[in-house]
Amino acid sequence: MGSHVEANRRYWDAQAEWYAQAAESNWSADPHWGLWRVPDSEIKLLPDADGADVVELGCGTGYVGGWLAARGANVVGIDNSPDQLATARSMQARFDLPFPLLWGDAEVLPFADNSFDVAISEYGAAIWCDPHRWIPEAARVLRPGGTLVFLGNAQVFMLCIPWLEVDGPVGTELQRPLRDMWRFDWEDSSGVEFHLSHGDWIDLFNKNGLVVQRLVELYAGPDSETRYEHLASLDWSTRWPCEEAWVVTKQ
Ligand SMILES: C[S@@+](CC[C@H](N)C(=O)[O-])C[C@H]1O[C@@H](n2cnc3c(N)ncnc32)[C@H](O)[C@@H]1O
Repeated sequence: MGSHVEANRRYWDAQAEWYAQAAESNWSADPHWGLWRVPDSEIKLLPDADGADVVELGCGTGYVGGWLAARGANVVGIDNSPDQLATARSMQARFDLPFPLLWGDAEVLPFADNSFDVAISEYGAAIWCDPHRWIPEAARVLRPGGTLVFLGNAQVFMLCIPWLEVDGPVGTELQRPLRDMWRFDWEDSSGVEFHLSHGDWIDLFNKNGLVVQRLVELYAGPDSETRYEHLASLDWSTRWPCEEAWVVTKQ
């Protein structure tokens, strides 16, 4: 197994053009989450922002940081892909919402201990970094009482998604064991992902002084639309969650 950080940098630089197509609509839309754009007004994941020091871990095109900056937060974004950051910078100019964007690795954060009130990741460090490396870093840079919010694929989704994208979308049969779930090296993609079981997430939080406040499961609404139908049908996504989001606080 090679370095996942290098592999993911190459992967995300290559994906950046496709992601840039959705950047403007994400920046301009009301806050929403996941493949089916579940409104934040329904699930209330976006933390209180006014005056808060926030770091977005794996900020990509930067819209989550943009939503928080527009609500009064002091945001810093960090990402491993120069090309994703280039899109984020052009969106900052377009929406007149400048905040620092750093090129770096969320597994080795360039910040002092106790620097932030909030750490957040939507499909960033949340799935592209090794949890045994990025969770300790997120805990280190949060202040006591600070909040970590992160969203990635739901456990049931990761159990049922086929190894090959052409065999998708996600179905109702288990494709792999839950036991020891960790690193995913896809057969048809050079990107490397990480997903843990709920029990392993909770053990990791406990080890790093993080206390679970919420585990939010995201379902599609009956009229939801997505540009990711190759991954999940509307029918599946109204019965099982495509994503889950953890909200944990530092003791
Ligand atoms: C699906 S995007 C999510 C970000 C944002 N929500 C978006 O959709 O633009 C995943 C991002 O994670 C970043 N990433 C992957 N590995 C990383 C690492 N080790 N440190 C920081 N960012 C990383 C990628 O470069 C990519 O921009």
